[in-house]
Amino acid sequence: MLKYLYMTKQKEIYKCNICGNIIEMIHPGAGQLICCGEPMKLQVEKETDEGKEKHVPVIEKTETGILVKVGAVPHPMEEAHYIEWIEVNNCKVFLKPGDNPSAKFNISGDVSVRIYCNIHGLWKSKM
Ligand SMILES: [Fe+2]
Repeated sequence: MLKYLYMTKQKEIYKCNICGNIIEMIHPGAGQLICCGEPMKLQVEKETDEGKEKHVPVIEKTETGILVKVGAVPHPMEEAHYIEWIEVNNCKVFLKPGDNPSAKFNISGDVSVRIYCNIHGLWKSKM
């Protein structure tokens, strides 16, 4: 059944390497995602790859929730290379060059964190 070859999953991130569009799957379907005439590339959530010390999110408890830092060694926040967003559970904070590579969230309990570097892609950690 060809139509199930490309079944997506909720929250997957896909990128078009031609135009730079990045999308997040809200409701999975069976079709292949195409942009600029090419299949979009699934962004793999990394935890241990090269450069992990600058990308794996570090989660610290605060009085009102958590502080997420990217990463153990602060990630650059330059025009050409920066952290685009930090996500905790289903909430994203969008960053721009010049910002600190960190964000606060008023949340408690189990957290699942993802971050996106415009060069090195998607990274995750949990607490
Ligand atoms: Fe990076």
